[in-house]
Amino acid sequence: MTLTAKITLHPELRIAQIDRRIYGSFIEHLGRAVYGGIYEPGHPTANADGFRQDVLELVRAANVPLVRYPGGNFVSGYNWLDGVGPRSARPRRLELAWRTIETNQVGVNEFAAWSKQAGAEPLMAVNLGTAGPEEARSLVEYCNFPDGSYWSDLRRSHGVAEPHNIKTWCLGNEMDGPWQICHKTAEEYGRVACETAKVMKWVDPSIELVACGSSGRGMPTFPDWERIVLEHTYEHVEYISLHTYYGNRDGNTLHFLAMSRDMDRFISTVANTCDLIGAKLRSKKKINLSFDEWNVWFHSNEADRQIEPWQEAPPQLEDIYTMEDALLVGCMLITLLKHADRVKIACLAQLVNVIAPIMTVKGGGSWRQTIYYPYMQAANFGQGAALDLHASSPLYHDTGFDAVPYFEGVATWDEAPGSLVVFAVNRNLGEPLALEGDARQFANYQVVEHLVLAHPDLKATNTLDHQPVVPRSSDSAQLVDGKLFATLPPASWNVIRMKKKAGD
Ligand code: AHR
Repeated sequence: MTLTAKITLHPELRIAQIDRRIYGSFIEHLGRAVYGGIYEPGHPTANADGFRQDVLELVRAANVPLVRYPGGNFVSGYNWLDGVGPRSARPRRLELAWRTIETNQVGVNEFAAWSKQAGAEPLMAVNLGTAGPEEARSLVEYCNFPDGSYWSDLRRSHGVAEPHNIKTWCLGNEMDGPWQICHKTAEEYGRVACETAKVMKWVDPSIELVACGSSGRGMPTFPDWERIVLEHTYEHVEYISLHTYYGNRDGNTLHFLAMSRDMDRFISTVANTCDLIGAKLRSKKKINLSFDEWNVWFHSNEADRQIEPWQEAPPQLEDIYTMEDALLVGCMLITLLKHADRVKIACLAQLVNVIAPIMTVKGGGSWRQTIYYPYMQAANFGQGAALDLHASSPLYHDTGFDAVPYFEGVATWDEAPGSLVVFAVNRNLGEPLALEGDARQFANYQVVEHLVLAHPDLKATNTLDHQPVVPRSSDSAQLVDGKLFATLPPASWNVIRMKKKAGD
């Protein structure tokens, strides 16, 4: 018997307008993300700034709107002054988060220049580990104040006349984690985050701030961490962060593909915690969510344990992603879009070489990992409003997640150009799903294309020379008399693009 999922496409099922920053990513001074990733002077494609053009092209093609920088765990030991001024005078430091040598050849000015070339805005993190309010407010002044003050004039003396005008800033990174340099309790972090926020905004009142939430839903301090941190920072920040990584550690693919359900619960709990504190404080303000680290991360764990410390840019966290990883990334993208009313920023962690959709070879080529495709397609086609689908789907039972639907999906609708897109994953590993959609409200639309990412071997990966996991066109989708029909192959990521008919 054919398995069938039913959906409804209706403008009134609008969740929210999508903030484009939901398709953000992340570059940390870690492994080969910066050195040998985005920056490789002497590479055949490097421009005058030392940035690899082949990498920039892949980043631009993914339409990445925002990139978090410079960490991650790295930021909690980082002195931003090490990375500005003449390169020859920049110190080589022992970098304690990842136990490498940091050469500081790239710093805030280089990153701002790279972001501009990539067409993305920076999401800048400040150090609230070894540093504090003083270093943070100086950095805001260095980056955003036009001129005529100590730090802005220092920037100008470094050859950067115009301010970077960085709008959004993270108040530290994963301060709840015992692995963090200068880890803090929620009380300690809440106090310093509040005072740092005040001085940063006194320098530039136009900036927006992200307070550190939990570094995972499984942290013992979750969700009290959020409650306490927000009690201190509620009126001083705009967002609270969430981080999560998943892995298929026991080889149970159906369980692995259900892990986006955990992300869904995490988002709902944090949103509810924000609203609880807002209510307690009698505040009119709503705190939104910045899911500024999310991805699959586990393949490289063992290899990383073998890496000798104190090397420059060693190959750390170089997960090679499979077809099934791309499916979970697809489910996670759908989950973020289903929460577009609260999740305004999200960062696929990370962007190049380090748990990344883009990989490079030193002195050589670059390629797209499997996970590049759902990310790139969502960022390019998922515009306008997110629409809930009121989906009904056959279920499977998972010991961790109970009843899990085979169908995971969301739609996006950009009214003015008349663009309607269904993003869907079929979690069933052996059977196709017949998709039936009530699309009477979009009867004047037609299918433009149905793109499918699938591979018979769920462990298939892409390499520089061999790219077996790439999207392919399917002719299964039709929109006839207000009814959408499509076949979602087993274990597939699907993008069904529809457009308003000309003249309608
Ligand atoms: O993205 C890799 C690391 O994961 C980040 O540095 C840290 O914030 C998280 O634990």
